Amino acid sequence: MDNTDLAASSSIVARRIPFEFPDDIAPHWIPGEPELSHMMNGASLTMPYLEPFLIRTIREALPLLADAKLRADAAAFMAQEGQHYRAHRRFNDLLKRKAYPELARIEAAMDASYVQLGKLPLARRLAYAAGFESMTIGLTEWIVGKRRELFAGADSRVASFVLWHMVEEAEHKTVAFDVYQATQGGYLLRAIGVLHASIDVIRFSMLGYKQMLLTDGLWVKPRSRLRLAYQLARFLWNVTPSLLRALLPGHNPRRQPDNAWSLEWIRRHAEQADADKAPLVDTNNAEMPVPFPAIRTI
Ligand SMILES: [Fe+2]
Ligand SMILES: [Fe+2]
Repeated sequence: MDNTDLAASSSIVARRIPFEFPDDIAPHWIPGEPELSHMMNGASLTMPYLEPFLIRTIREALPLLADAKLRADAAAFMAQEGQHYRAHRRFNDLLKRKAYPELARIEAAMDASYVQLGKLPLARRLAYAAGFESMTIGLTEWIVGKRRELFAGADSRVASFVLWHMVEEAEHKTVAFDVYQATQGGYLLRAIGVLHASIDVIRFSMLGYKQMLLTDGLWVKPRSRLRLAYQLARFLWNVTPSLLRALLPGHNPRRQPDNAWSLEWIRRHAEQADADKAPLVDTNNAEMPVPFPAIRTI
């Protein structure tokens, strides 16, 4: 059985969604919020380096997993992350092509950094993967839960892509943790992984958004710096609690409930006949419902 067959026997669905990023998408895709747009753009920049690293790490652990269900979930995790980083790469290429070719320098630094990280023992890398995925739970809760405030009037093609990624992060939130527990299981190493991964990703995202704000000429503007400080405070306020929970001994991501919107997204996607079309969220609708039409039952 190859990894694709394995993934098919998991309840985690590997979706191929053709999100496209044509040239008319503005890098400031959230109206009036260049700083928040760039914080999300900066996070996007890290994904084609971070997520392949997660995939390589989990793949290396596959032969160590005795549990067939966990092996299937791990294969589905790899398939989902593979779709994520490919979509992020297409979006990042748009950013570089349109306005920020300097980002290539930061990409080269991330590439080198993940090559170095790849030399760590598997236990450390699995702890890093589990740690990153723990941090993502808070990020998902923030972005999905506060989508109405964050994405009001935003370019739907980008907001929908970010929300899709977050929904799938919720869907596979236990996998890296379970793989770590099944193969290593120590508390201290896992806690180090939470800090190591979170600091790494936040640091690289910051390099990305700082560069974009510099290119825009906003980095030197006090009002822009104030707006950025406000957005960073919002991010920390929302993400820190789940980061602290992940640092507790006895932490288990399956105890953190999923947002109802994410669960509805997953359920409605499965009901759609043309599920391969990019599902676009209506960012002008104050409720921002899941991006699938109601199924007629008559
Ligand atoms: Fe992902
Ligand atoms: Fe993930």
